[in-house]
Amino acid sequence: MKPILVSGIQPSGRLHIGNYLGALKNFVDLQDSDEYQCYFFIADLHSLTEPFDPKEKQRQILNLTADFLAAGIDPKKSTIFLQSQVPAHSELMWILNTITSMGELLRMTQLKDKAPETIKQIKELIAKNMSDLEAIAIREDINETQMNLTNVGLFDYPVLMTADILLYGANIVPVGDDQLQHLELTRSLARKFNTRFGKTFIEPKGLLTKTPRVMSLKNPEKKMSKSQPESCLFIDDDPEDIRQKIARATTDSGSEIIYDPETKHGLSNLLDICAAITGKEVSMTVREFSGKNYSEFKNQLAKIVSDHFAAFREKKKKLLASDKKLKTILSAGSKKAADVADKKMADVKNKIGIAL
Ligand code: AMP
Ligand code: TRP
Repeated sequence: MKPILVSGIQPSGRLHIGNYLGALKNFVDLQDSDEYQCYFFIADLHSLTEPFDPKEKQRQILNLTADFLAAGIDPKKSTIFLQSQVPAHSELMWILNTITSMGELLRMTQLKDKAPETIKQIKELIAKNMSDLEAIAIREDINETQMNLTNVGLFDYPVLMTADILLYGANIVPVGDDQLQHLELTRSLARKFNTRFGKTFIEPKGLLTKTPRVMSLKNPEKKMSKSQPESCLFIDDDPEDIRQKIARATTDSGSEIIYDPETKHGLSNLLDICAAITGKEVSMTVREFSGKNYSEFKNQLAKIVSDHFAAFREKKKKLLASDKKLKTILSAGSKKAADVADKKMADVKNKIGIAL
């Protein structure tokens, strides 16, 4: 039997080139290697932890499904599904919640990035006295607004992610480097469950690409993120947008094409993107552009990116013309996924003694 591979992406906005080079492109390459049994899903439940408009959610889901398919994920080779259509994800999450410590979740850097104030306050309370937690909402020295803005889903996010992975017995989880800490938790929870209830789960490994952290175009010391759309290069941007965004990308004041991620963040990020798209080594890419100035390099890069995504843009447009087809693909995939997930759930219920 082939090793099992699972990964998901949230339907929370357009995919940028970081999502593509850190995750989606790799999904397609791994699928096409024929070495894995692949499950790729739309993490709609995860996406509910950020502010959203219910009228837009379905569009975001279908849009991401079209991204998957247009990029080359093939429902004949991989199981493509919608997280919320497989109820076992939420069910297993609850059970895993009961073996997860608050401390483990408070350490997650993604949570710290998304709700820094709340985490600080909770930690202060824990340090003082654990029982104070019960009084969180009424304590005067707590900034209640901050606390109330942070939903519990944001806190529990990595446990749902753990359920996503463990249900399918994944060996490999391809992700960008911002997800590695969550995978550590996945392994730790699998171990904890197995120790307490008997061998049930596999401890999965993360798999990174050569570009596990694509940096922002405007602020290349930070990672490219959907939450800052102005510094993203979106994979469905039209050629003119691509040209303008790359032309305006922050680069240092030098003029020579040199790869040095320590001092030349912006230029090195563009060189990384170029190398990842062409499939060449960075050193070779630097050699190719040596002697050119920044604007010549940027022009060429814009053409390389724009040509790379030309077929993708066309396919995506066609796919978006039929919502029905996209929905059918998701529901067929979800049925297949649920068959596998339900078996694992039955085993879990049995192990913990709630199967009658
Ligand atoms: P998300 O949009 O948060 O669901 O992320 C989808 C995938 O893209 C995850 O595997 C992330 O780790 C990956 N990812 C997000 N941002 C970046 C980035 N700037 N560079 C590389 N990978 C990224
Ligand atoms: N948390 C991931 C992200 O933000 C998305 C995700 C949810 C995921 N469940 C997963 C990735 C399971 C891999 C495996 O990018």
